[in-house]
Amino acid sequence: MNYRHAFHAGNFADCFKHTLLLWLLDALRRKPAPFFVLDTHAGAGRYDLAAPPAERTGEWRAGIGRLLDDPPAPLAAYVGQVKALGLYPGSPALIRSRLRPADRLAACEWQPDEARALRRLFARDRQVSVHERDGWEAIGALLPPKERRGLVMIDPPYERTDEFASLLTGLRSGLQRFASGVFAAWYPIKHRAPVRAFHAGLRESGMRDVVAAELHIREPVDPARLNGCGLLIVNPPYRFEDEAPAMLGALRERLGAEDATVVRLCGE
Ligand SMILES: C[S@@+](CC[C@H](N)C(=O)[O-])C[C@H]1O[C@@H](n2cnc3c(N)ncnc32)[C@H](O)[C@@H]1O
Repeated sequence: MNYRHAFHAGNFADCFKHTLLLWLLDALRRKPAPFFVLDTHAGAGRYDLAAPPAERTGEWRAGIGRLLDDPPAPLAAYVGQVKALGLYPGSPALIRSRLRPADRLAACEWQPDEARALRRLFARDRQVSVHERDGWEAIGALLPPKERRGLVMIDPPYERTDEFASLLTGLRSGLQRFASGVFAAWYPIKHRAPVRAFHAGLRESGMRDVVAAELHIREPVDPARLNGCGLLIVNPPYRFEDEAPAMLGALRERLGAEDATVVRLCGE
């Protein structure tokens, strides 16, 4: 496994995923009952955009680099959090920023160096547990949570060709254990065929209440490039489909993307 998120932190895909992630967390905070978050593929937790990996690709310049100045209202919460945390926050740092005293985060990371960085970041934090383990396996081991409400964030690197299949299996097994949970799963759009097959597989699986938000940077004609990405949401919180378009519209405009969509894949 070669993937290192430090090369990609703050790129357009992170801006898209992290904006929606914060919205989902804020939706969970509407009710006073404590919630649990499982981050199955957590990464290192925070990233220095001035360090060699980020500088080498420069991907962040076409992402968070375009949002920092005078962010539009629908992106203000996300950009504000990025500025507040200093280094570019990965999903576990963003999730931690939204936990109230009784809420919990379990962050899983398989790569030992990344897991070590994550452990350092959350040392002595009683609300966060860091697990150096396989995130797919953690779905079976850590669900359902005792809180009986919460979010499962699934963000694999898609280095293996069967990762869409793993996602379908992971979602099904997660929902069997935690049917009321909100599940958010990021996926790449390189070309159309694998995404169409994934959506068809979801529809055929009998899953209910599934929405897909997508940001299309350009026509997916060159499958060697990340041309866009999506976030699949099972059990989307109330008003997601009403409020997501404004966030996606602001991202599309600022990032110069071709299109952004919110599509319901499976009815309630
Ligand atoms: C796309 S990155 C995660 C980024 C992070 N979620 C964020 O938004 O900041 C994917 C991460 O998954 C890790 N990983 C790969 N396979 C894994 C597995 N089976 N279980 C847990 N983590 C895995 C990689 O080392 C990498 O750090």
